Amino acid sequence: MCGIVGYTGYRQAQPILVGALKRLEYRGYDSAGIALGGEKISVYKDKGEVAHIEAGAPRFTGVWGIAHTRWATHGKPTKNNAHPFMDCNGKVALAHNGIIENYGRLKDDLMRRGHVFTSETDTETVVHLIEENYKGNLEEAARTVVKMLEGSYALVMMHVSEPGKVVAVRKESPLILGIGDGENFVASDVPALLDHTDRVISMQDGEVAVITQDGVTLTDVEGKPVDRGFQRITFTLDDAERGGYEHFMLKEIFEQPRALHDTLVGKLGEDAPYGIPIDGVRLIACGTSYHASLVGKYVIESIAKLPAQVEVASEYRYGAVSREHPFTVLISQSGETADTLAAAKEATRRGCYTVGITNILGSSITREVDETIYTRAGIEIGVAATKTYLTQLAALYLLAMRLGTGRTLRPDTARQMREGLRSLPQHVQRVLNNSEEIEKVAKETSKARDMFFIGRNLNYPVALEGALKMKEISYIHAEGYPAGELKHGPLALLSPEAPVIAIAVKDHTYEKMLSNIGEVSARGSPVVGICSEGDRETPKYVDYVLRVPDVPTIFSPVPVSVVLQLLAYYAARERGCPIDKPRNLAKSVTVE
Ligand code: AGP
Ligand code: GLU
Repeated sequence: MCGIVGYTGYRQAQPILVGALKRLEYRGYDSAGIALGGEKISVYKDKGEVAHIEAGAPRFTGVWGIAHTRWATHGKPTKNNAHPFMDCNGKVALAHNGIIENYGRLKDDLMRRGHVFTSETDTETVVHLIEENYKGNLEEAARTVVKMLEGSYALVMMHVSEPGKVVAVRKESPLILGIGDGENFVASDVPALLDHTDRVISMQDGEVAVITQDGVTLTDVEGKPVDRGFQRITFTLDDAERGGYEHFMLKEIFEQPRALHDTLVGKLGEDAPYGIPIDGVRLIACGTSYHASLVGKYVIESIAKLPAQVEVASEYRYGAVSREHPFTVLISQSGETADTLAAAKEATRRGCYTVGITNILGSSITREVDETIYTRAGIEIGVAATKTYLTQLAALYLLAMRLGTGRTLRPDTARQMREGLRSLPQHVQRVLNNSEEIEKVAKETSKARDMFFIGRNLNYPVALEGALKMKEISYIHAEGYPAGELKHGPLALLSPEAPVIAIAVKDHTYEKMLSNIGEVSARGSPVVGICSEGDRETPKYVDYVLRVPDVPTIFSPVPVSVVLQLLAYYAARERGCPIDKPRNLAKSVTVE
């Protein structure tokens, strides 16, 4: 998820582009760069934040240009991998937000035809394709080239022979046109434009825009003109960065179908088995990532039939074992958590093969492990992890399949798993469509003093995560338990002020779960039952029902977790808590 901007008009473009980029830094800040038009195109880019570019860039003169702030997906966050990219002749400059899925093949072909690449990004293929297909009209070249691209993209580009013109194309990554007087703009999001205009047009998938000083022309996939009037923006800059959502957390919860899709894209083909002997797996992480690891344990044991253990990172490293060889997975969305980094070092010292799962390209954990699996959730601003957690689950399903490949995973099971994974984004969307229902229940229960979350089997860690979300943002004291454990102590705390959230999806523990719900209601606690769409039994025993789509049991943690995220969010909002920045917490915890 990057931020891109384009400007053409009568004012000096550089400060306008840099100012606009700063408004898009919430979309990523691994590197930044600008390209300014003139007799030749001048590019300045570097790793680091926009302020760093602003301080380092020479003053270019030019009234048209493009710019980019990066959240790396392909290639480390280095200067060479920063956008904009230029073709071999220095005539075209281009910036991209998204992922070109077929870039490997395109790059091989382009290199065979003599193109010289200066970066490891997927994006650079596009600028060389424009170079090859340019016949005097950048718009036409763009139209030809996008037909060759698979994946998602918002692209802005300029050609030295067409002064004052910026061409923009969109598929599945946002682009907004800004209409000014004698100047026009394009950007990934509205905040970039609000200092200059309140008139905007949202581009749709497949559309191509040509932006000049005099106006903007918009055409559809086939080149037919699109006549869409502008909208007037009435909200403030701060609202705009959150895309109209009240909090980043809510925005990030709603981005989950997309985040899952991006994490799974290109990963659902046949797997090559691991070429090393593996007789057990250990997963290590902290907080929410630890809960994802606990789900991972069940998934790995069931799919790959390997014994799996999970440890909290800060505990693992003080264990007394000197040499051992489990296949060790370290999970950290930020890739910077000190406890997890220390555990990665310790695992290496013990002689383990290590795999990192992280959302941040080139983060510290990637330097400590033998292999990295990336989730592609996009940048997460809310301190409470939501979309990074859900994509960790996706990565763990993929890992479990790979661990089972060539061993225990039958081809038909693999096929079913892939189908299941493919439909997860739409199931999550169904949960999101039901957010009003969840909001009502959250309001009803938000006055609670304590809350108990119960689940069994692979929904037990989901209960733990539900409780963590609730306590960190709403400050309600919340505990997660395996449902069978309540009778061993916590039942003593139940009362009408202590609602119980019970996960009752239809798996082999369902009947037992209903009995546990009965035990709870008998003690007077209000019960919120999370059950499958077709379930007629659970509603008979609970006070509030929240439904999730009927997915294969192994995937049930995904929709259930989304319900619990929304429950926590709405409870916290009802209580007036500072949701995106809960007290005493930080987004990445770099102390041990
Ligand atoms: C999540 O909501 C928490 N704020 C926290 O538990 C977090 O998951 C933990 O600090 C681990 O972070 P990491 O995934 O970046 O390593
Ligand atoms: N895939 C491009 C890169 O890694 C763009 C990244 C993005 O939009 O997230 O540079």
